[in-house]
Amino acid sequence: MNSTVRTATDSWSPKEQALLHTLRPMSAQDEASGDMPSIITRGEGVHIFDIDGRRMIDCVGGLWCVNVGYGRSEIIDAIMSQLRELAYISIFPGSSNVTSIRLADKICEIASDEAISKVFFGSNGSDAIENSFKLARQYWKLVGRSEKYKVVSLRGAYHGTHFGCMAANGLASAFRRSYEPMPPGFVNVETFDSYRPLIDGIDVEAQVELCIKLLERTIEYQDPETIAALIAEPVQGGGGMHIPPPSYWRRLREVCDHNDILLISDEVVTGFGRSGTMFGARGWNVKPDIMCCGKGISGGYAPLSATLVNARVADAWNDTASDHSFVAAGYTHSGNPVACAAGVAALDIVLREGLVENAREVGGYFLQRLRGLMDRHEAIGDVRGKGLMMTIEMVEDRKTKAAFGHDHPFPSSIAKFCRENGVWLRQVDHKFIISPPLTFTRQHVDQVVEVLDLAYSKTPIR
Ligand SMILES: Cc1ncc(COP(=O)(O)O)c(C=O)c1O
Repeated sequence: MNSTVRTATDSWSPKEQALLHTLRPMSAQDEASGDMPSIITRGEGVHIFDIDGRRMIDCVGGLWCVNVGYGRSEIIDAIMSQLRELAYISIFPGSSNVTSIRLADKICEIASDEAISKVFFGSNGSDAIENSFKLARQYWKLVGRSEKYKVVSLRGAYHGTHFGCMAANGLASAFRRSYEPMPPGFVNVETFDSYRPLIDGIDVEAQVELCIKLLERTIEYQDPETIAALIAEPVQGGGGMHIPPPSYWRRLREVCDHNDILLISDEVVTGFGRSGTMFGARGWNVKPDIMCCGKGISGGYAPLSATLVNARVADAWNDTASDHSFVAAGYTHSGNPVACAAGVAALDIVLREGLVENAREVGGYFLQRLRGLMDRHEAIGDVRGKGLMMTIEMVEDRKTKAAFGHDHPFPSSIAKFCRENGVWLRQVDHKFIISPPLTFTRQHVDQVVEVLDLAYSKTPIR
């Protein structure tokens, strides 16, 4: 293959062109790596179809975002009718549009338990996170404490790819190395790990106390007077879905209150039902000051995200005389009416079809069935999750918990077998990340578990 631009008269094949003209995100770029993407052409319910016509159950939910399933006609109709009525109008000074106003109202109603009173729109989760940092810093300036600017984040966290997000991420340095230097003002601390805790064999509550102690020490060392916010995911997704006990988030809230630090909940994955409660933090009985939502907010039907602030934070902007009251953040597509139409329709479905409860119920069943596989297959070291977000962690040795190395073919062979037998999984090194649409049923779970069982039975480790 070469990268010569073709004319419209040439026969054109997406398979041949797939690697030519797109710098692919989160990917190695060399063709030699054999990283040929599956080209997906259609979605229906919880199923996707590839270019060769293969039908697969989507255990990835697009990318944790297709929460209401594919092909939902009421979302498509809402988008089409918005496009016909008004495809675009900015919500920068001087104009607004009805649909973004409606969606902001709806979100505040859904998040009334958290006293959310204002919504700031973006297009991607990374926008929601970046804006949460800006709004948190601005809040402290508005209330006359400009020296509070730092952000504390947790080891293993994934908050996106904008510079602030990257600086707050707690994943391996490979995520940052090519883009350094990072902006200053970000501090990362240890967090809860249910599988390989900081100290082997430590009891769950003792581990919580240890993590909280490390956090308090870090805050003390940094000086709480310099810290604007602490950001955390209610359930770390990319970080491996270690499920802390409820005491952990309660303690995070206490530490924030004690030190006058805003608590930002990264709900990009957990927002609107995925972890079995409307918001992940609600599942821990904790009210954050700021919540960042993306992904499922539009069911994946349009790029849309939102930073939600509670009344305490929002009220700081009531002082319109302040030098800091101008919100100098926003995008061409903040409050895009077509994306917001998708949001209104998707959230209606989540509420009307009880998808939050379904995620909790079917997720519990899924977890139990996957744990059953551990009794039959030594290579499964751990299965953990909450609601419809789960991970299967594969190990070479259960005793030592030694994970399969980066280049070991076993995890990708399992994923390939599943694909060929109708189950679409997301593999990240030695883990499968499972995040299907929230419309999943027990029958879907049974089909997936049956294929996984076969895959582990038939695939040699070497
Ligand atoms: C917890 C979390 N926060 C933020 C993001 C960034 O969202 P986006 O990729 O839409 O920018 C992600 C993406 O996966 C995420 O999982």
